[in-house]
Amino acid sequence: MTDKHGIRLVDLDESGVDRAFRSDVLKGLAQSQKAIPARWFYDERGSQLFEEITQVSEYYPTRAETEILRGKGEEFAQLIGPGRAVVEFGSGSSVKTPLLLSAIDPGAYVPLDISGEFLRAAAADLAAQFPGLPVHPVEADFTKRVELPEAVAQMPKLGFFPGSTIGNMVPRTAVDLLREMRQTLGDEAMLLIGMDLVKDEAVLEAAYDDAQGVTAAFNLNLLTRINRELDADIPVDAFAHEARWVDTYARIEMHLVAQEDVTFSVSGEEFSMKAGETIHTENSHKFDARSSNTLLLAGHWTPMERWTDEAQQFSLVLARAMIPRSAP
Ligand code: AVI
Repeated sequence: MTDKHGIRLVDLDESGVDRAFRSDVLKGLAQSQKAIPARWFYDERGSQLFEEITQVSEYYPTRAETEILRGKGEEFAQLIGPGRAVVEFGSGSSVKTPLLLSAIDPGAYVPLDISGEFLRAAAADLAAQFPGLPVHPVEADFTKRVELPEAVAQMPKLGFFPGSTIGNMVPRTAVDLLREMRQTLGDEAMLLIGMDLVKDEAVLEAAYDDAQGVTAAFNLNLLTRINRELDADIPVDAFAHEARWVDTYARIEMHLVAQEDVTFSVSGEEFSMKAGETIHTENSHKFDARSSNTLLLAGHWTPMERWTDEAQQFSLVLARAMIPRSAP
């Protein structure tokens, strides 16, 4: 798959295997602390399981963020103003995006996503719900600078990055992304970004290890995907899901823990793990008011306003593009 400049978004080898997936898995499994980037969770089954996670009672972020979007529409409208092109990083979610669009009277809607399929479905959905609104989907890797459609060049932009997906990145990567967004969106831009809050450890760990086992299935599905796509024989049943709070980094870490000594091969390479050794599969950073402000400032965004849900579990932060000036 290529973008409009002919740059490859997904690079498949002769047997249809995603080269980046294979390389990330082989590199990650060769490390002393084995680790695989969380982006590879989202094959078809993984995306389905993530949707299910958002419905389990322990996983509060989706409900809390939706509550804020429903309740604060007038305040958004006042601060954001009409006529902005809303640029959503990731395909529009079926509930959250319409709540924002109907609150603020936007000039256009520009969903960005690396998966053309999700993108077209989300764009068609939104276009049907907002008949007068110009919708310009862009197939792109939004972790890099994106060229926006000519049709929105003259409009001020509002970046929308819900879900606390920023929390899945380590601070250095998060800062890089925020700076790219700042470049993509321009000097007049604002950004509305979801950031999950630090809270009681037990609540956090339950949110990432629900009683029904949906999050466990989501984590373990990564191994099933590796077996299917990378000619591997990982004994999936020999692994267990674990979610742990790591206070130093203010994050939940997800791991796959070997329950016994195991050996397996992936694309012809052999690996072994001792019982108790783990594959680190995800970080989900949590923020407070100061740490979220610091991250945004480092990413060249000036925080303007933050909203939380009634139970103060989740925050949505509005920021404006920082204009460079000489220090201090
Ligand atoms: C997509 N992301 C914001 C989710 C999170 O909460 O970090 C992914 C997730 N992993 C386990 N549960 C949900």
